[in-house]
Amino acid sequence: MTARVGILISGRGSNMQSLVRAAGDAYRVALVASDKPDAAGLTWAAEQGIATLAHPGKRADREAAFDAALRDAGVEVIALAGYMRLLSDDFVARWAGRILNIHPSLLPLYKGLDTHARAIAAGDVEAGCSVHVVTEELDAGEVLGQARVPILPGDTAETLAERVLAVEHSLYPSVLAEFVTR
Ligand code: GRF
Repeated sequence: MTARVGILISGRGSNMQSLVRAAGDAYRVALVASDKPDAAGLTWAAEQGIATLAHPGKRADREAAFDAALRDAGVEVIALAGYMRLLSDDFVARWAGRILNIHPSLLPLYKGLDTHARAIAAGDVEAGCSVHVVTEELDAGEVLGQARVPILPGDTAETLAERVLAVEHSLYPSVLAEFVTR
C-alpha cells in the first residue's frame, strides 16, 4: 500500500524536493505545509500539483491548521524537511512515532543548530546526517539511518554543509521509503 506523506518546510525545501522526486510505490506526497508563506519550496510544490498550505500565525493556531489539513489529506506520516520551528508536545503526541526529521549531523552528536561549524571546531574527521523519529526531546528520537561524509582540510561550515546536503538528498527518500513499508 502506498503511504501518504505530509512534509513541513520553512525554506528552500531541497530535501522536500528530493522526497517528492523519489515518491513512488512506497509513498506519495499529499501535502506540503509551511510556517513561512514565502518559502520557496511552497511554490515549487504547487507547481508539481501538490496541495500546499502556509500558516504564519501563532504556534497553536498553526499546528491546529496543519493537523486538520494533514488529516484531510489522509496523511499517515509527516516528514520535517528544514522546518525551523519546534513542534509542541501536544502535536508530537498526536502523531507519535509518525514524524521523521533529517538532521545535519551524526546524531547523537551536535543536536540543535550550527552542526557543521561545531563538527569542524571539534576537529572531527567526518560529519554527516541522520534521519530520526521526532519525539518531545529535540533531535533525540530513534535514528533510522545515517550517511557519512569526510571533513576535508580547509572545509568551512558552508562547504561542509553543501556536501552533507548532497547526501541528505539520497538518504532521506530511502529511509522514508523503508520506514513506511516496515
Ligand atoms: C538541511 O540541512 C536539513 O538537514 C536541516 O535543515 C536543512 C534544510 O534544507 N534540517 P532544505 O530546506 O531541505 O534545503
